[in-house]
Amino acid sequence: MNSSSLAVGVDVGGSSIKCALIDLDTGTFVGKRFSTPTPAQDSTDSLLAALASVVSNIPGDHAVGLAFPSVIRNGVVRTAANLNKAWIGQPLAQLASQRLQRSVVAINDADAAGLAELRYGAARGVPGTVLLLTLGTGIGSALFVDGRLVPNTEFGHLQVAGREAEKRASGRAKVEGGLSWDGWAAELNLVLSELHALLWPDLIVLCGGITEEPEKFMDKLQCEAPLCIGSMRSEAGIVGAAFATVSSPRM
Ligand code: BGC
Repeated sequence: MNSSSLAVGVDVGGSSIKCALIDLDTGTFVGKRFSTPTPAQDSTDSLLAALASVVSNIPGDHAVGLAFPSVIRNGVVRTAANLNKAWIGQPLAQLASQRLQRSVVAINDADAAGLAELRYGAARGVPGTVLLLTLGTGIGSALFVDGRLVPNTEFGHLQVAGREAEKRASGRAKVEGGLSWDGWAAELNLVLSELHALLWPDLIVLCGGITEEPEKFMDKLQCEAPLCIGSMRSEAGIVGAAFATVSSPRM
């Protein structure tokens, strides 16, 4: 295999940092996936140390794509909804590159998942407006128009009937609110309906840990737009982060 078609994908989530070596021709894992808990509320330095330690499991000096749960502009962190606020303003790509001693591209985690599903997965070849939502610690969003990413859309922070979307229908909201599958699906339906009214997407793709069990909730969802589960589910962020090392935001 040509080593230039390999890159390391790292997905920093609210609960764990996951990474793997990715074959960029196929969007598949080469070898094992590694993970470590995210020190989400600790110092920026301890998160960078955890990142370096998990990436050190992968030999070689492949470029690293870093999916991060924040608005990222030009490699700089601009928001920190579920992380220590000390991250705001930090030059993440530069700091990670110094720490790992190789080139690093940083993008929003949902944007990374969206790139993966558009390039290799459930939204491959779909024209028009595609919306991807990640349902984890927060709700992340990635919006594509004819294959072009509109980055950092942050629809998880939309107010839906007086309450933030991610407080209603993230994976964490289900666990912390003790919601049944019916109760959680009802919350997600409110969010989907609001997003549909705003965007009229041609396809909505759902990703994130909770989508590992689609049989628990898919038949409870109602949405005017076609809706599907991402083919990479909770792994899309890792694959898309790796792909971001070689892609332009247009797919
Ligand atoms: C953050 C987003 C992120 C999402 C999923 C939200 O709270 O603001 O940037 O994509 O969580 O991790």
